Amino acid sequence: MTADLMGRLRQVVGPAGVIDDPGEMAGYASDWRNAYSGTPAAVVRPGGTEEVAAVVALCAEAGVAMVPQGGNTGLCGGAVPDHSGRQVVLSLTRMRRIRDLDLGNQTITVEAGAVLQSVQAAAAAAGWLFPLSLGAEGSCTIGGNLATNAGGTGVLRYGTMRDLTLGLEVVLPNGRIWHGLRGLRKDNTGYDLKQLFIGAEGTLGVITAAVLKLFPGVQSRAAAWVALPGPQAAVDLIGVLRELAGDRLTGFEIMSRQSVEFVLRHSTGARDPFGDRHPWYALVELGDTLPAAGLDGVLESSLGEAFERGVVVDAVVASSPAQAAALWALREGISEAQNHEGPSLKHDVSVPVSRIPAFLERTDRALGQVVPGIRIVAYGHVGDGNLHYNLSKPDGSDDDEFRARAGDLARVIYDSTSAFDGSISAEHGLGQSKRGIIADYKDSHELELMRGLKQLIDPQGLMNPGKLLPG
Ligand code: FAD
Ligand code: MLT
Ligand code: ZN
Repeated sequence: MTADLMGRLRQVVGPAGVIDDPGEMAGYASDWRNAYSGTPAAVVRPGGTEEVAAVVALCAEAGVAMVPQGGNTGLCGGAVPDHSGRQVVLSLTRMRRIRDLDLGNQTITVEAGAVLQSVQAAAAAAGWLFPLSLGAEGSCTIGGNLATNAGGTGVLRYGTMRDLTLGLEVVLPNGRIWHGLRGLRKDNTGYDLKQLFIGAEGTLGVITAAVLKLFPGVQSRAAAWVALPGPQAAVDLIGVLRELAGDRLTGFEIMSRQSVEFVLRHSTGARDPFGDRHPWYALVELGDTLPAAGLDGVLESSLGEAFERGVVVDAVVASSPAQAAALWALREGISEAQNHEGPSLKHDVSVPVSRIPAFLERTDRALGQVVPGIRIVAYGHVGDGNLHYNLSKPDGSDDDEFRARAGDLARVIYDSTSAFDGSISAEHGLGQSKRGIIADYKDSHELELMRGLKQLIDPQGLMNPGKLLPG
């Protein structure tokens, strides 16, 4: 990058808004797990939409590629530059204003760099709920949530970011601003352009702000930790809960014993809710907008019915918010705990909910044939058909030997996912990690259309190159 461009960028965002010292850039150059790293030409931190537009226009004029970055918590290397030393990281973290809270319209308008937790807090302070919830919510940003179409634990009841968004403001790759910040629930005036940018992982433009839906605050909750004989019981239990608790079912996560065992081993204060070991567990949550909705009773009677039907082996209903939080900590701790067991090979897949049991049986068996003794950490948002099929090496084996099998193991999982009509990325995206293989699993006409859209919106190919689309 030329000194002239650096100087002009500094004029736009101020001297503090451009970082080019390698030490200071380190935090932006690799992801939180250090699984992906690169060498940025510079990190630019604009303070507002007009500044983003000016920065993008300058980079476009100079032919410099840009990598949008939010909280850098993504799991596919999407926010990390390559090693060329020629890509600029465009960090949105200075843009974190809540621009508007329209309670009549039940919407909140926020800037892209706002941390998810702060948006949840702003909604809660007004007595409303912004329901997106995920383990990284203390660091991830709304821009990153939109660009990855984030899911998390509230999807079952409220949907993904695609469902939660009414309008967007986006800086296009030529530096023009698309003013799509509309708060409309109905708008049939043509193509729904915002949906193009949601889930595009920064390859079509820089999201600078969004109008998001709010929901009535949840005034009462009930949670239970449930022991299950196997994955089919999880599918059956969802059916029972839907039947008896209806829309009050707000969360349904499953965890294999192996997943929970890692948390019990590595998370301070973690405690097994049962004396006995069970092969699978579910974490169930009900929520209601009424303060005294009798949810504990609804949950107990639903689980009692499931017990009668032979679906549930044992269950503990949380008797206080602190106990419910401890149960959620067992679930949310899995990702971190697995890091203590050597490399964690992550796969984020979805299949139709009804097919999960057969999918797990076939895939587990095939993985064991490739690496005997492999430790399978399968868990996730099973109510959405979304499993985190994460893998750890056999006990006591070599890290590098296991890493060398990563490609073979991924193939097993993705071939199986495909055989069950699933998707190789349910919620984390493609980024760098799955870009090389998506062509094997996605219809070639769909990919052709995606390439055409990319060419139309970003003809110079400067917006997050090397991500999402196959090379
Ligand atoms: P980043 O990592 O900074 O970026 C992610 C992608 O979005 C990149 O491609 C980047 O270029 C692009 N991007 C970022 N900001 C913008 C912008 N303003 N405009 C255009 N493009 C942009 N994800 C889930 O979906 N569900 C989960 O349950 C979940 N749990 C997680 C738990 C843990 C412990 C961790 C570490 C991660 C988890 N994730 C989960 C993944 C991650 O948190 C999400 O993908 C999150 O939405 C990323 O937000 P971010 O701000 O960190 O984005
Ligand atoms: C989760 O739901 O815990 C994450 O999306 C999965 C992960 O970190 O692998
Ligand atoms: Zn997840």
